[in-house]
Formats: sequence, C-alpha cells, structure tokens
Amino acid sequence: MKVTIKEVAKKAGVSASTVSRVVGNYGYVGEKNRKKILAVIRELDYHPNAIARSMVKKSTSTIGLVITDITNPFFAYLARGVEEVAWQHGYTLILANTDEDLTKEQAIVSALLEKQVDGLILVPASSSPTPHLQEVLKREMPLTLVDRRVKDCLVDVIMVNNQDGARQAVAYLIERGHRRIGMVYDNPEISTNMERLAGYREAFRDAGLTIPEDLVRSCQYTQQSAYAVVAQLLKVENPPTAIFTANNFMTLGAVKAVREAGLQIPTHIALVGFDDLDWNEYNLPQLTSVAQPVHEMGKVAAQRLIARLKGEKTPPLEIRLNTRFIIRQSC
Ligand code: RIB
Repeated sequence: MKVTIKEVAKKAGVSASTVSRVVGNYGYVGEKNRKKILAVIRELDYHPNAIARSMVKKSTSTIGLVITDITNPFFAYLARGVEEVAWQHGYTLILANTDEDLTKEQAIVSALLEKQVDGLILVPASSSPTPHLQEVLKREMPLTLVDRRVKDCLVDVIMVNNQDGARQAVAYLIERGHRRIGMVYDNPEISTNMERLAGYREAFRDAGLTIPEDLVRSCQYTQQSAYAVVAQLLKVENPPTAIFTANNFMTLGAVKAVREAGLQIPTHIALVGFDDLDWNEYNLPQLTSVAQPVHEMGKVAAQRLIARLKGEKTPPLEIRLNTRFIIRQSC
C-alpha cells in the first residue's frame, strides 16, 4: 500500500499541511520539525502524490506552453527560454504544438484548462480574436502571448520589432541595387507576417520605389510550400534578383528552389531571411539574416506569466525586443 501524507504526519507528530509545506518546499516550517519530517519520509519511503498535493495547494505548479511546431528551431529555442525561467520558479511545462491550426489550438487550450495548469504561454495561430482565448480570459487563467499578438486580447505580449527588422533587410537589398525583390511568407493571419510585410513595403516607400507586388507571395507553413512558391517566382517574366523570406522555413524552401533552378546565391539571386538559423553560418554561402532574440523572448514570457501568477495586477504590457541584422554572404 502507498504510504500517505497522513501516515507521515502522524509518525512525525505534525499536521498533514506541515508535511505538505516541506514536500512542496513552500511556506514556513521550523528546522526541528523539518528534520523530523524528512527522517520519517525516508523511514517510510514516502513518495508525494502531485495530484493530491495540487488539491491542497490549489495549484499544479505547471505552465502550459502552446507553440506552433517544436521541430522548428525557433520554437525549440523559445521553449528552452520559457522552461529555464519556469523551472527556477518551481513550475514544470506541458508543451503542445498547434501547427498554425486554430482548431488544434482550441482543442489544446481546453485540454490544458481541464488539466488545471496554473497559467498559459501561447504563440497564437491567428491574430484575430478567438472564442477559446476569450474563454481563457473569462476564467481569469493567467495568459501571456509571445511572438504574435491577438486583437482585443489584453494580456502581456512579448514580440520583436518585426516591421523594423524587415524594413532594414529590404533596405539593404535596395541599397545594393535590387529593385525586383520578391517576398515569401506563410500564415497571413499572424501579426509577425503582417508586420514583416509592412516592413518590406516601407523600405520601398522610403526609397521612393514602386513595390513589385507581383513578387509578393504567400504559402503554407512548410518548407515544401515555400519551395514551390519560390520555384514559381523564378519562372516569371522579369524574375526577382533578390528574395526576402519571412521566416526560417521559408528560407529553407527558397534555398532549395534556387539550387534546383541551377542558380547560385548571391551570383544570380540574393537572399535575406527573417530568423537566423544555427546552420546559416555553415551553409554555403553563409546567409544574411534578421536574428530574433528567441531565447530571451521565452525567458521574458515566462517572467511575465509568473509575475501574474504571483498576483501582479498592472495593465497588460506590450514588450518589443530588438532584432539584429547579420550581414554574411548571401547578397
Ligand atoms: O520560424 C517561425 C516563425 O514564426 C518565426 O519567425 C516566428 O517569429 C514565428 O512568427
């Protein structure tokens, strides 16, 4: 039979809630009682039951992290940043992937609510208001958005300066004489793509140039889809001499399409991508890119959620971190 917290408390001559504080490492317990309780836990070989403890504490010490796709390095690094801070504050993560699919996001959010996570950190699959996020707010479940915002969802949100990062990248291509600059992006519903597209257009306007809208293409959230779209772009009359990709999966698809067309980067076509990738330095040519402080974004998102979990009631914060433009060899 499993040893219960009551048996430990009886043998140690203290209350079950005192044992719970020692096991959960919260609240105050006198040194003498703490030592006695730890000795009885060892003697009886007691193993705490997290479910039972969560009933006492009214907290599961878990945070739900809802991202798009853990196989995308961007989200892997984001998760690392979140987990590093969460663990420091005694929280473990339940991670789930939405694949940019709102139906899946809704199912995941309701499953995490049922599991009584203490709070949610979400990379939203749409920047338009959704009923399931309104439900999270109605239930006063602490929620922090990261990477993208959601209209009318008044919670802390941590993003980067997408528009300025994109503008800087395209201005660099214009300065190097490019006019026929293509742009490839995926989910038009998310604020990162909307803002990066705005930055692309702003760079042309700043230079007094007409925007080559025929070279602006959207695709699905996959490398394969980006590959197909770029292959099409390379075949148009008056094809692009440069391409700006809105994220790392788009960049990978573009590199494959350019190579399969028998073209060289940067000899025949220049390439700049949003998101820096570990392999950008090892790829040949090394890719010029807009780097996001992803790990920092994850840490700040976790810090904001934990501040709310501790009861902070200040108005929602919109935190924008700066991107870094890294010039290498692909232009
Ligand atoms: O690679 C994933 C992309 O989607 C990143 O650029 C991130 O900003 C998200 O929008």
